[in-house]
Amino acid sequence: MRVTSTTQALAVDGGCPVRKTMLPYGHQSIDENDIQAVVDVLRSDWLTTGPKVDEFEEAFAAYVGAKYAVAFSSGTAALHGAAFSAGLKGGDEAITTPMTFAATANCVLYQGARPVFADVCADTLNLDPEQVAARLTSRTRAVLPVDYAGHPADLDPILELAERRGLIVIEDASHALGAEYKGRPIGSLAHMTVFSFHPVKHLTTGEGGMVTTDRADFAETLRKFRNHGISSEARQRQQSGSWRYDMVMLGFNYRLTDVACALGLSQLKRLDANLTRRREIAARYSAAFREMPAVLAPSVGPDVKPAWHLYPLRLDLARFQVHRTDIFRALRAENIGVNVHYIPVHLHAYYRDAFGYHGGEYPVAEGAYDRLISLPMFQGMRDDDVEDVIHAVAKVTASWVKPDPAAVMKEN
Ligand SMILES: Cc1ncc(COP(=O)(O)O)c(C=O)c1O
Repeated sequence: MRVTSTTQALAVDGGCPVRKTMLPYGHQSIDENDIQAVVDVLRSDWLTTGPKVDEFEEAFAAYVGAKYAVAFSSGTAALHGAAFSAGLKGGDEAITTPMTFAATANCVLYQGARPVFADVCADTLNLDPEQVAARLTSRTRAVLPVDYAGHPADLDPILELAERRGLIVIEDASHALGAEYKGRPIGSLAHMTVFSFHPVKHLTTGEGGMVTTDRADFAETLRKFRNHGISSEARQRQQSGSWRYDMVMLGFNYRLTDVACALGLSQLKRLDANLTRRREIAARYSAAFREMPAVLAPSVGPDVKPAWHLYPLRLDLARFQVHRTDIFRALRAENIGVNVHYIPVHLHAYYRDAFGYHGGEYPVAEGAYDRLISLPMFQGMRDDDVEDVIHAVAKVTASWVKPDPAAVMKEN
């Protein structure tokens, strides 16, 4: 049942969709230079553990202003490496946000430690430092803030707390490559910062990840951890003419290939242009949504520059006759590839079963989850794609928004 009439029938009701083809919520951007860089490596001697790994790590560290960068085969592997290097082990606790992809909390479990969730701030949906302080125990060893959607978490109070209590801060910046916090680049602030290079991210290597740090001891442990716990790499041995190596700790094969690193290096050259385009799209979206009833654009703190991995729109559900799912389906029918980020981690079956969560534990994150819809956001979106999204949101929400109670009172 529609409350307000609209001239355009919704596609979900058999009307004409806003666009003919599906616009995805995220998509990689690959150009001829990227392809050439990969082909060059395929013709070289080193497909993995070769010179492109060092080159990519050095260029990446310089970009984010960190002393060291250590490449991993995925963001998840990078998180595992960081949790190991922080010394997390059985009996320890690490505090993180429920408003993230499960990998952030899972890396704590990989180490046999316990992830403890703290609720998020209502505006940014980032870890609330006061909630972190409230969850501290004598077992807490680490805090893992996440820069949700590319908006940096409020790092200073978390770092201060960590300093006072001797905790390690592992920032999950999988969404925030290129973001700034108080004028400083993300990647240079926490004890370790983790990035992901999945294709929907700002820079892709297919699969891939990175940990940046200023601490030589962490960098050294991370390098061993990703290479079976072996103290030297194949190329070092080849160069020194020695066959000897020693496995000094238990590690994994979490190496990133030279093929992937060459792609990453090439993509890094376009990162600034990618960020500029994402910021333009976000500005256009937010200007349009501020004029629309019953939707809320993401808020941006005064002292940050977000990287806009995602654009999470919030619905004022009290103003709608329908649920988020109906609006989600209607937007998909208009060929707008919306998504939802995130189902709060503690509500996944694994976490419910393992820790007894049943919902209601983290009201801010859970309340936000019910209202969130991620709109398409990627570098390759053209201006008319952006306008299609705005048009579709206007069309769908106008069909289902209840009359403004203040306006109804005036009419009566
Ligand atoms: C916040 C967050 N952390 C970790 C990851 C895991 O990264 P990867 O997919 O590279 O393993 C993701 C990936 O989507 C993510 O969004």
